[in-house]
Amino acid sequence: MVGRVADGSTESSARLILMKDFEKKVAAEELVLIENAVEGKVCKILGVLREGLGKNEFLSASSYRPDVAYMKLGGEPSGAREVYSFAIKPIGVVTEEGLDQNRLIIQPRAPVYILEDEDNPMEWIVKGLDVLWTKAHIERHESWKVPVVKNFIPYHVGVYGTTGSGKSWFTRYILIPLYISAGYRIIVLDWSGTDYAPYYQNSDDTEVIKITDIAMDEESVLSYFEDKTYDFAKNNNVKDAFDEFIEGWTGKVENVKETAGEGGRPEKILYDMMRRHVESVVNTLDTRSRQPAVRAVRRVFRRLKAEDLAPLMGTLPVEEVYRRLSEKKMIVIDMSSALSEGKLGFFLSLSNYLYSLMEAGNNLNLSLVIDEAPQYTPWSPKGIQEASTEMIKNLAALGRKRMFNLTLISQGVKGDIGINASVRRNLTSNFFGRIHPLDASGEGGALEWLAPYGITADQLLQLKPGRFYFTGLMNPSPIPLLITYRVEAHV
Ligand SMILES: Nc1ncnc2c1ncn2[C@@H]1O[C@H](COP(=O)(O)OP(=O)(O)OP(=O)(O)O)[C@@H](O)[C@H]1O
Ligand SMILES: [Mg+2]
Repeated sequence: MVGRVADGSTESSARLILMKDFEKKVAAEELVLIENAVEGKVCKILGVLREGLGKNEFLSASSYRPDVAYMKLGGEPSGAREVYSFAIKPIGVVTEEGLDQNRLIIQPRAPVYILEDEDNPMEWIVKGLDVLWTKAHIERHESWKVPVVKNFIPYHVGVYGTTGSGKSWFTRYILIPLYISAGYRIIVLDWSGTDYAPYYQNSDDTEVIKITDIAMDEESVLSYFEDKTYDFAKNNNVKDAFDEFIEGWTGKVENVKETAGEGGRPEKILYDMMRRHVESVVNTLDTRSRQPAVRAVRRVFRRLKAEDLAPLMGTLPVEEVYRRLSEKKMIVIDMSSALSEGKLGFFLSLSNYLYSLMEAGNNLNLSLVIDEAPQYTPWSPKGIQEASTEMIKNLAALGRKRMFNLTLISQGVKGDIGINASVRRNLTSNFFGRIHPLDASGEGGALEWLAPYGITADQLLQLKPGRFYFTGLMNPSPIPLLITYRVEAHV
């Protein structure tokens, strides 16, 4: 027993007054049990401690008291009238069948007990639910593993935190093993090629594929060129000429690779072919349209260089990337050597394919992990990002019924460092690590999710790497809990 409930409690809130000296032992985020006596029975309410407060009215900073005077002269004021307290956020009533919402007023005076390692309250929380246990644990209690409600995995996940807060590590150590244990296979899109690809190079059940080896669908090739050339210098005839050339793209790539041979520059050959084609089409136009088209072609090829074709020179079909998941549990796409438009072009190819599989009624049992998600679906999408944002939204909606999980990782929640609001709404389980000050205020940020549970901006701004507040449908506790994980030598 560490203290008792203070005056002013309701059915959903209470304050704990600590007994003498317990302020030195009991910390925020600890779990406690309140023994609430009702009609001779004792009802046990599980809660989490937040919003600690130390009071000593004799040491008021804004008024002059004898204790203050004494302190000013170097004396140690008395602690006899000090009161230490915490808010208790009730998680629920512990019953035989599992956790129930508390509806009875919590008695002031009710005794409060701190839970110790061997109590494992997580076991009480999960009663009656179909859960999986992750390798993450409740902060300061390594034996209290974090449970996850299995059915809500395809309701999508967000991981947020500033740079260095541990998002990619958390995903590698906790989320990916969790999804695998739930029977999902994984595709990771490693935007920079540094967060995942190097860690899985020598793994038996993971294959790392370079984005430049993968073939793009023709629509994505067209939007890539559109982005690169400012919409074909706004000339429809030029756009048509490109479109014509792009037909049968992968076949053409295979041919030029053969022609170029080992050490040759297939992208240069293809570039020259494309240029010749576009110029010849423009030359056959009638005199009125020819002049503007010729000017547009000149502008387009001033922008577009042979090197720009490098990310489009892959020949491995996306279908094949997906098919390899029948042999491996996980595929990591190393996207490092492509430009943003190329990466997004590939994303569209892959997701078009996944979408068509789901539309045809297939359950995918697949998790698509997208690190650096604002690159795909920023606050205000432009160009090809409009298509990828729309695609992510559609994947999210259909995925819920098709055992398909999206995991989006982002430095920020909202605004220009965050994820597009229409996509964010689809992420129903979230992990919030240390936040950026920009996320600390205003609508839609991390605080809006967490402040109702007594979690303050100060705490979120100072979280250590690898600490996350876990909220949402996958969490069997209705109150967000602070979780962490141990980093071992290997993934
Ligand atoms: N559980 C943990 N305990 C201690 N340190 C950790 C933990 N998890 C991660 N770290 C440390 O945090 C560092 C940054 O982690 P990580 O690369 O995952 O950050 P990130 O949030 O993905 O950053 P970025 O946004 O820049 O990609 C790691 O190098 C590691 O040293
Ligand atoms: Mg990262």
